[in-house]
Amino acid sequence: MSDFVSLAEDIAREAGDMLLAKRPAMSEVVETKSSPTDVVTALDKVSEELIRARILAARPGDTILGEEGGEARGDSDVRWVVDPIDGTVNFLYGLPDWAVSIAVEVGGRIVAGVVNVATRGEVFTAALGEGAWLGGARLRCTTGVPLAQALVATGFGYLPGRREVQGQVLASVLPRVRDIRRGGSCAIDICSVAAGRVDAYYERGVNYWDYAAAGLVAAEAGARIGGLHGRPSNSDLTLCAAPGLFEELHDLLAPLDPERDA
Ligand code: IPD
Ligand code: CA
Ligand code: CA
Repeated sequence: MSDFVSLAEDIAREAGDMLLAKRPAMSEVVETKSSPTDVVTALDKVSEELIRARILAARPGDTILGEEGGEARGDSDVRWVVDPIDGTVNFLYGLPDWAVSIAVEVGGRIVAGVVNVATRGEVFTAALGEGAWLGGARLRCTTGVPLAQALVATGFGYLPGRREVQGQVLASVLPRVRDIRRGGSCAIDICSVAAGRVDAYYERGVNYWDYAAAGLVAAEAGARIGGLHGRPSNSDLTLCAAPGLFEELHDLLAPLDPERDA
């Protein structure tokens, strides 16, 4: 497993360094996806191509699922799950919170996760059963924080009808928590739960590549990550917090019917 972490870390570092070097000249929008605000820069594609090439050079039989290029099937039981830039809008605006996210599944189970926040020189890593780390420091999420004292990260989708409901849900959450943060990268938000920089996270509409690597980091730091009503993390809703706070946040969100769009 640690071989997977170290390969994923090497690749995520190389992609992060490339993005830092090329961003000033190459960060314009080249296409939009689900809505005019859902942007792709040339460097999202360059980053994913670099990551795919490095994975295949080391492990030619593996499957790769990447946000920009979809799934390329191999014949091993290993699948790599890649978000080449999580937080593209931050990247576009020169804000620091964007990350390269790489997870490794064996037999359908995530065994390694790396989130490289290159602007901050921070690489979050986790291996299944072996803990979550930021550099040499082992990560632990906060514990014993009641919902009323919790700093809660969240995010918003790209579709207006989804945002309308997300705004309504937020209006009910905000008076019941310490405060809200919207950082702009799901992967960093979930790593922030792992590092105790926020107490909890929830979001509707995130994709598997957004939370695959960070989800293992959070779980290995003692947090619970999942969906509503006992479901695993999913695109309808993903929540992350220490046990106890997770259930409190869940019970606040569930009656608000947060999985709908207007
Ligand atoms: C987005 C970020 C953002 C979240 C969106 C994601 P992208 O990923 O993670 O924080 O709110 O739902 O789509 O588009 O920057 O890779
Ligand atoms: Ca993403
Ligand atoms: Ca992305």
